[in-house]
Amino acid sequence: MDCQNGVIRLIRDSDLIALEWDGEYIRYRRVYRDVYEQYRIGRTLPWVIDLPTAGIIGQLFVQLDGQNKSLADGYLRAYLFSFRVKPAYQKQGWGSALLEYVENYLRDKGFEWTTLKVSKSNDNARQFYEHRGYIVVGEDGGEWRYIDHLGAQQAVIDPSYRMEKWIGRKDGKNPLLR
Ligand SMILES: CC(C)(COP(=O)(O)OP(=O)(O)OC[C@H]1O[C@@H](n2cnc3c(N)ncnc32)[C@H](O)[C@@H]1OP(=O)(O)O)[C@@H](O)C(=O)NCCC(=O)NCCS
Repeated sequence: MDCQNGVIRLIRDSDLIALEWDGEYIRYRRVYRDVYEQYRIGRTLPWVIDLPTAGIIGQLFVQLDGQNKSLADGYLRAYLFSFRVKPAYQKQGWGSALLEYVENYLRDKGFEWTTLKVSKSNDNARQFYEHRGYIVVGEDGGEWRYIDHLGAQQAVIDPSYRMEKWIGRKDGKNPLLR
């Protein structure tokens, strides 16, 4: 999709280094490789915003199906993760445009709910989501592990809120209304 001279598109193999943001997120090298492999087998959709000169300035990944069906069940519920816009490009509408694009895409594919987790310490992001229709539906211990770029296992504990939004139905019908 074209938006203000930028494009929202799915990642390519050659984008993986750019997702490390000049080293800031180098620790997630293997995580991003895994996301890409999951994309290749149809389980994730890793979207980025690509600007003509600046390159990739934002990302929002979607898990379509996973072990926790309350987050992603493959047909009605999709889980959003790893959402960020580079600081120099924040508060210019890019994040909203990317989120809206992804919600519209998912609705068009038949999904009705988007789910996510946001750190309890990230008030700005929680408010951003609330302003766009997301509500807190639960809590999560926020424990997860990953293998960093040096091959070391890392453990993260980041207590989070679980949020979700009903994004509507492709046919436009609301099952709560007669
Ligand atoms: C959360 C995040 C992705 C939002 O991206 P963004 O590009 O800043 O989002 P937007 O610019 O669309 O909107 C942010 C705010 O700026 C406002 N804004 C948008 N364009 C603006 C402009 N031209 N001038 C002033 N404000 C503007 C928006 O209205 C919004 O405020 P609101 O929520 O009160 O409506 C970004 O802040 C980010 O990367 N944060 C760090 C990582 C993070 O916390 N990710 C979420 C993890 S769960």
